[in-house]
Amino acid sequence: MISGAPASGKGTQCELITDKYGLVHIAAGDLLRAEVAAGTENGIKAQEYMNKGQLVPNEIVVSMVKRRLEEQDAQEKGWLLDGYPRSVSQADALEALNIRPHVFILLQVPEDILVERVVGRRLDPVTGKIYHLTYAPPETPEIEARLTQRSDDTEERVKLRLKTHRQNVEDVLSIYSDVIVPVSFGSITSSLFAEKSRFV
Ligand code: AP5
Repeated sequence: MISGAPASGKGTQCELITDKYGLVHIAAGDLLRAEVAAGTENGIKAQEYMNKGQLVPNEIVVSMVKRRLEEQDAQEKGWLLDGYPRSVSQADALEALNIRPHVFILLQVPEDILVERVVGRRLDPVTGKIYHLTYAPPETPEIEARLTQRSDDTEERVKLRLKTHRQNVEDVLSIYSDVIVPVSFGSITSSLFAEKSRFV
């Protein structure tokens, strides 16, 4: 599992870790955004909460993540769960299925840096790759031209997301205290790609 505040670098590190270990990356936020994009009933409901930076209700999230964990690729290759669980009830739902991580990576980054990362983040809709206009700029003008920005990546909304994170994080950490590996800002530098071999 990997956890951390909004824009702490979970998705970025997941790309590197799954490349190295061949795991299946399962991100609760990505699953929710796929529902939103498909315009499903769950997606329409989830969008309301995501816009406010709040947790999407368990009745949507819990079964969605459970289904994804049970798919064949995750069962065969192992998984890296990103942004889940975010509450005691979500962790309890996993415990009830006897699902526990071997390692719980906790990314720790100061809040002023998080805001800067959110505002500069861009996504490539073709490859799914995460960029930052300053820290991880696109490789070519062609890629730059097609980059998109998430609707919740504004300074105003990230402050709401940070508040929700602060309210829930300690409870979740207490459940996985025996397997937590903290990674602090400074141990991962801005040169994301140079870090590839050093991380983990
Ligand atoms: P989610 O999509 O999980 O968003 P989040 O937790 O806010 O995290 P982000 O995706 O914003 O950031 P990240 O940590 O992956 O950072 P990234 O690598 O992109 O959730 C969205 C919403 O869905 C939630 O608000 C909630 O409503 C709902 N939701 C999700 N999970 C839920 C759950 N379990 N239950 C209920 N609701 C749920 O990096 C950010 C930027 O920084 C990038 O531009 C990157 O290039 C740059 N960067 C990364 N690392 C570095 C570095 N070392 N140095 C410099 N720049 C860096």
